[in-house]
Amino acid sequence: MNNRHEALYAGHVAEVQRRWEEALEAEQFDGVLVHSGTPIYSFLDDYEYAFRPNPHFLHWLPLTRHADSAVLVLPGRQPTLFYFQPEDYWYLPPADPEPWWADLFRIEVVQDAADWRQAMKNTLEAAGVVQQSVAAIGDSPSLSGEFEAERVNPPGLVDRIHLARTRKTAYEAACIDAAARLAAQAHAAAEQAFREGESEFGIHLRYLAACEHTDTQLPYNNIVALNEHSAVLHYQAREREAPAQVRSFLLDAGCTVNAYASDITRSYASEPGLFGDLIAAMDGLQQGLTGQVRAGVDYRELHLLTHREIAGVLEEAGIIKISADDAVESGLSGVFYPHGLGHFLGLQTHDVAGLIDNDRQPVPRPEGHPALRLTRVLESDNALTIEPGLYFIDSLLDGWRAGRDASMVDWQKVAALRPFGGIRIEDNVIVTDAGCENLTRRAFAEL
Ligand code: GLY
Ligand code: MN
Ligand code: MN
Repeated sequence: MNNRHEALYAGHVAEVQRRWEEALEAEQFDGVLVHSGTPIYSFLDDYEYAFRPNPHFLHWLPLTRHADSAVLVLPGRQPTLFYFQPEDYWYLPPADPEPWWADLFRIEVVQDAADWRQAMKNTLEAAGVVQQSVAAIGDSPSLSGEFEAERVNPPGLVDRIHLARTRKTAYEAACIDAAARLAAQAHAAAEQAFREGESEFGIHLRYLAACEHTDTQLPYNNIVALNEHSAVLHYQAREREAPAQVRSFLLDAGCTVNAYASDITRSYASEPGLFGDLIAAMDGLQQGLTGQVRAGVDYRELHLLTHREIAGVLEEAGIIKISADDAVESGLSGVFYPHGLGHFLGLQTHDVAGLIDNDRQPVPRPEGHPALRLTRVLESDNALTIEPGLYFIDSLLDGWRAGRDASMVDWQKVAALRPFGGIRIEDNVIVTDAGCENLTRRAFAEL
């Protein structure tokens, strides 16, 4: 374990305890049990799907593979961890608790997946807390036998603990930073593999080797796209053979550290030319946008500004034959840029609470922008992505050509660019009062 994380972890747990106590008091609960989750088996078989713990459990503990454990949080008391560690010779049981995190919890080892129930009752009784005043957070089927439906994931409490994840503690920021550094290293290995002519599959393997992750440790499925495939926003197939002619490469891939994600995209052209110029323009545009991030900025404004600026790139390159303003006004910019500028980042790649304000009220997306995942006014210690894109997507282009004013577009240029797919540049930043820390650029610079 990284000493920096260890040193920051106690402060993190104290802050999480403080924020959760506030949430419990506001929702009038005397405690909450946070269950890590229970593995799901494939139909008619005894194989588990890749297990991912409940992210709210991970907010408390770096137990990234630990099923059927649970934390009991009671205001004013040290949290109790019911640590599931069965005797097993089919699978390797979880290792013994490590002091750097375990010392902050009262720990009871349980050997059966259902044993947390009796252990919880005993702990509640000793604390003089009645179970009917305790909520549960999680999706394990074992919760329903123990908690009435209205006390499992009560919406008011869930919104409050989602909000408690929007401002990262120093520990969380350090984990995301470490995940960004690891991903930058793996991106460099993947770029090298692309330059050597590897297939998408081959590039993916080189990425995994460089960051020493298995597929299931990645925060999301790597998007490894050559040529036209980079116009598929979440392209998932990985061709085993490299195309005869490689023109472009888009890699959207992250890493995890203590379950905290990075989410980074880079785009490359094989040779100089118009597509390479567009990548350079998008890179400059992305850095300009990142330069505007600071506490107090409405992320929706930044997203709308991105449309204006991408339309400017299209106008400048002669891909559209109308002004940038008209391209935004008419919706044409959305044909080339059909996703949002970014999202919160943390224990989930698309982290929670991006669409509510601090009073838990919904903050609507701008009309016509259904894919935007973050609509808040930014606050210091928010972690988020800035990921503008520019794509040549057949279905959207053909739809525009058939249904709208086709003369707005230079179709010859579009035809020349379609074989290159698309461009996305994505960095991870932490917001400060004065601006932001760009974890990704720093990680690449320090490689
Ligand atoms: N990798 C998914 C995203 O960028 O949102
Ligand atoms: Mn992203
Ligand atoms: Mn991404």
